[in-house]
Amino acid sequence: MLIVKNIDTLEKCLGEWKSLGLSVGFVPTMGALHLGHLSLIEQAISENDKVVCSIFVNPTQFTDPKDLENYPIQIEEDLVLLKKVGCDLVFAPTKTDMYPQGEEVVQFNINDLDYLMEGAHRQGHFDGVCTIVSKLFELVRPKNAYFGQKDFQQLIIIRQLNKIQKFNINIVGCPIIREDNGLAMSSRNVLLSPREREIAAEIYRILKETKAKFPNSSLESLKLFVETKLNAVSEFSVDYVEIAHAQTLQSLSDLEKNEPAILCVAVFVGSVRLIDNILLN
Ligand code: PAF
Repeated sequence: MLIVKNIDTLEKCLGEWKSLGLSVGFVPTMGALHLGHLSLIEQAISENDKVVCSIFVNPTQFTDPKDLENYPIQIEEDLVLLKKVGCDLVFAPTKTDMYPQGEEVVQFNINDLDYLMEGAHRQGHFDGVCTIVSKLFELVRPKNAYFGQKDFQQLIIIRQLNKIQKFNINIVGCPIIREDNGLAMSSRNVLLSPREREIAAEIYRILKETKAKFPNSSLESLKLFVETKLNAVSEFSVDYVEIAHAQTLQSLSDLEKNEPAILCVAVFVGSVRLIDNILLN
């Protein structure tokens, strides 16, 4: 596995592969890898000749400096996992490589998708995500790029970014990987105490219970149901609960219940903010 720390070397390797006609799959990450990330790499390996994974903790997508400070970094462990799974190249640039002019953020026209849910609660977050993903797409120019459905809104926004920037990359959304107890895998889970990790599994239980009620309930009553259930767990503090169209993320009315619907939640478990979602139909 090649470990590449600067842009020139990355471009040289990619140039060689592309001159041989090899297809490249790309998995962008911020490191602290878990089985969810590895499932993206595995899917990329099965669908491309070569796979590039980037590890870069992108400062411009953090809206809370403490969150950035606490973000887990474990590059050595990440490299071991990536090698084991069969990744071909890891791109681990420095901040200066990615932001040579300082932490400048580009604002893309992503149809106001960034004002909803995560965007409304973490203002500027998606500008940071789109800025870095756009830079990485320009460097790697993959055939396919892989994103987890846990960050569902991010996936929809990246599809829009791909369209408006005409990257012409096939954006592949991959299923959420869960712990045995149902907790969605996330790099932030390591920040939970063992007890919080158990309690956090309640989020998915509530999502599943809500899905079962979907055919026979109004959307308003479902939202209320989720909020009430989550608020009943004393360790939880609910950031938001939304039911939206699963392609456009716009809010749905009861008349549109045959449209694809997704329930998205953000919940603080102690001081750790977790997100999760479930398709309702
Ligand atoms: O999903 C993530 O880990 C990040 O938002 C991404 C896509 C790597 C951009 O920094």
